[in-house]
Amino acid sequence: MNRKKLTLAIIVLWLTGSVWAATSITSDGNETSKLLVHVEQGRDRIAPEIYGHFAEHLGRCVYEGFWVGEDSDIPNVRGIRKDVVEALKKIQVPVLRWPGGCFADEYHWKEGIGPRSKRGRMINTHWGRVIDDNSFGTHEFLDLCEMLDCEAYIAGNVGSGTVEEMQDWVEYMTSDSDGDMARLRRQNGREKPWRLRYFGVGNENWGCGGNMTAEYYADLYRRFQTYVRNYSGNRIVKVACGPGGTDLRWTEVVMEKAARYMNAVTLHYYVRGSGNWTDKGSATEFDEKEWFALMKNTLGADETIAKNIEIMDRFDRRKRIDLFVDEWGTWWDAEPGTDPGFLYQQNTLRDAVSAGIFLNVFNKYCHRVKMANIAQTNNVLQAMILTRGKEMIVTPTYHVFEMFKVHQGATLLPSELVCHGYGARNQQIPELVASASRDAGGTVHISICNLNPNSDSQLECLLEGLSPQRVSGRVLTAEKMTAHNTFKNPDVVMPTRLNGSTVDGDLITVTIPAKSVVVLAIK
Ligand code: AHR
Repeated sequence: MNRKKLTLAIIVLWLTGSVWAATSITSDGNETSKLLVHVEQGRDRIAPEIYGHFAEHLGRCVYEGFWVGEDSDIPNVRGIRKDVVEALKKIQVPVLRWPGGCFADEYHWKEGIGPRSKRGRMINTHWGRVIDDNSFGTHEFLDLCEMLDCEAYIAGNVGSGTVEEMQDWVEYMTSDSDGDMARLRRQNGREKPWRLRYFGVGNENWGCGGNMTAEYYADLYRRFQTYVRNYSGNRIVKVACGPGGTDLRWTEVVMEKAARYMNAVTLHYYVRGSGNWTDKGSATEFDEKEWFALMKNTLGADETIAKNIEIMDRFDRRKRIDLFVDEWGTWWDAEPGTDPGFLYQQNTLRDAVSAGIFLNVFNKYCHRVKMANIAQTNNVLQAMILTRGKEMIVTPTYHVFEMFKVHQGATLLPSELVCHGYGARNQQIPELVASASRDAGGTVHISICNLNPNSDSQLECLLEGLSPQRVSGRVLTAEKMTAHNTFKNPDVVMPTRLNGSTVDGDLITVTIPAKSVVVLAIK
């Protein structure tokens, strides 16, 4: 199909209304899928923070995952494991959110500073009721961020904390003055203040963060945020707690009452298969019905984000406020034999394809979605890294982040996709989900997920405004949809070279294997 015909086919599909966001499902099963990328129409930058992470005091995410202590025989720098930091540096972590999660609204930061032998011991009531001896606190977290060379995003305590406590924390971290908090920080060994970019005023305050109504939280938000001050040239992005899933009323109320006091509002979006919260399903043992359900539920993030943005636009006409999806990912039953309060789960090719869909959707809304943080970095939920004593492996989802890092800071290129449907006729979803960007060097990257576990997809790409010279690609797939990496076999799912892509005049032809994530580089 030549350029004219392809453009025409896409226009016809748009006009006939068979449109799913920027994707249309073709009715003709034999047609090749088609992607039209408008290279010269790129306008919005994909904030690197869309590829952000989240680490909570939960199970073995912080303790064992990051923190092993200075005396550990696991190689570490000032108590933080070296192997984990090295692996995370390869995926260019742009921002790390801490200390929770639900934990944030029970955390009292003053118990986590000063000599470790004198720190407080708290019961982590949300997560397994284990004792947290506070050996990982503010200094350790900000040290970790410096090792990773990433921005720090701290979630403050509204649920059980005080305004004074929150104000003091910000002053402690960021003030270069001769005031009490800066003096205390110096006594504890840190002369210069840290740079702190993001501060969240509470977490899930509709649930674990205090069971508040939207109205009550909005009022509290206004009060607490007043005392989140800028010191010594540090400028904080103030983040209000948004809804979980599809609770649009929460967004509406918080925006109506508090929009002028915030720089960003959050959204949490967890997905599973067809199970419910008490029976979420196994991370590794599932059939195609469960695979399909996860793909469908993941695609639901598109509509939820669009609806939240629509509400935000009504109360923020200048589009000043950003949307941060600061918790997202898959949530399965905890791995058998582990503490259910630790939320440890394995991570298969299914999780990787779901992550690829999420990231393509975030790219699509990058004009408003300026941060997203997958839950969570190590050993919890959809983790990047799994550890067992001295051992460490990376998950299929880690590889997706590594492949997609080319989008960080690049310009989103508008695109239209026509592809086959996947699933039964009355509940079909698109087989492919894609996004495209152009980096500072002019290379165009296209990330594509094939949601169909049964068939490869032939794709023709036309890049309007660019004559492609070369195309190369990487693919993440495996023989089975349940494939995952283990300590015994750590490289079952890892990216390989994608063969067979061709450039013919303006057209790029590529095969997207069944159940895969592909990233193309086009020059
Ligand atoms: O990520 C696990 C938990 O999920 C977080 O603590 C909470 O914010 C959410 O409900």
